[in-house]
Amino acid sequence: MPELDLPQRQATDTLMLTGFWYRALPADRVHRNQLHKAALLEIPLVIGRDRQGRPFALRDSCPHRGMPLNTGKFDGENLECPYHGWQFDVHNGQCQQIPSLTSDQTMKVDRIYAGSYPCEEQDHFIWVYISDPGPQGAGFAKPAEAPESAPQVEKFTDKYSLAYLQADMPVSIDHGIIGLMDPAHGPFVHQAWWWRTRHSIHEKKKNFEPIPNGFRMAAHTPSSNSAPYKLLRLYADADSISTTIDFVLPNMRTETIRAGKYWFSSLTTVTPITRTHCRIDVVAAWNLFRWVPFVPDLLKFVFAKFVEQDRRTMEMQAEGLKHNPHLMLIDDADRPAKWYFQLKAAHLESKRTGREMKHPMDGPVTLKWRS
Ligand code: FES
Ligand SMILES: [Fe+2]
Repeated sequence: MPELDLPQRQATDTLMLTGFWYRALPADRVHRNQLHKAALLEIPLVIGRDRQGRPFALRDSCPHRGMPLNTGKFDGENLECPYHGWQFDVHNGQCQQIPSLTSDQTMKVDRIYAGSYPCEEQDHFIWVYISDPGPQGAGFAKPAEAPESAPQVEKFTDKYSLAYLQADMPVSIDHGIIGLMDPAHGPFVHQAWWWRTRHSIHEKKKNFEPIPNGFRMAAHTPSSNSAPYKLLRLYADADSISTTIDFVLPNMRTETIRAGKYWFSSLTTVTPITRTHCRIDVVAAWNLFRWVPFVPDLLKFVFAKFVEQDRRTMEMQAEGLKHNPHLMLIDDADRPAKWYFQLKAAHLESKRTGREMKHPMDGPVTLKWRS
């Protein structure tokens, strides 16, 4: 699959994967009886909550003549298009009323649907399931059911703290994702006196293994060259700290850190908004340092700093990418990026043929790099 090894060679229809859940908006920004604009995979969406607080997602386009529905009237149950007043049930998109019909006109109003998407609230976010596009010209029908629930941040105790942060990246989804899994940028992008300097760069060896739809960096004791980990070991009074990092299609990175009875877990997603824009959302849950003053704030500060450093880097990279440069992926530091492209290709191939997906990794692999 040499063509798929390079990000700029991606055909646009292989760029964004349908048939998955995506984070659309932070839940605390979506209020009852209100409408909000959003976009996922170039699809304009209108998102809201009904009177009971249940979220919904519709295509932001009236099936009559394409009017954006976010400009319509919403009574907490039905949404009325501002152009000719057609009304739609917000949960399944079914048309409820066409005001221009006379009493003897028998048009079957309930056979008309506005595009609608399965929608769930999970860990601070409204998730939307983007199903595979139907056959061309089929028009809108009842929403497809999602095959499973939206992903969750893994939690290991009943009590925990939860926080999120997000950043817009002016690059395609592929650059967003390979930036997320890239181990070699750390010493250059994420420098800070309290974290590490570029002089702390040293050789690393990590074990990776295939998992369904992705790969795992196996549990290990994180590098001892960072002060926060030393602090954590002291605080948790734990002999060992284990970290597991998974990447799973289409866009999820989960990281789990466990030290004795304490844990920290995060689910980071890179969401394609348009072909040229993506957004990083990090949701973290943890039970450590919950009652130590300032520490949760400190954790958030550190995370926000990292995400901001990544965002700024990608903003600069986007400048360079405008000129469509030739790009390369090297071994071993860019091997995870290669796996990502191969996983995507294998996923699309299995969808095309209906055969089981052939995982690009045959078994465990050890990668080495300096970072
Ligand atoms: S465009 Fe929406 S009702 Fe006509
Ligand atoms: Fe980074």
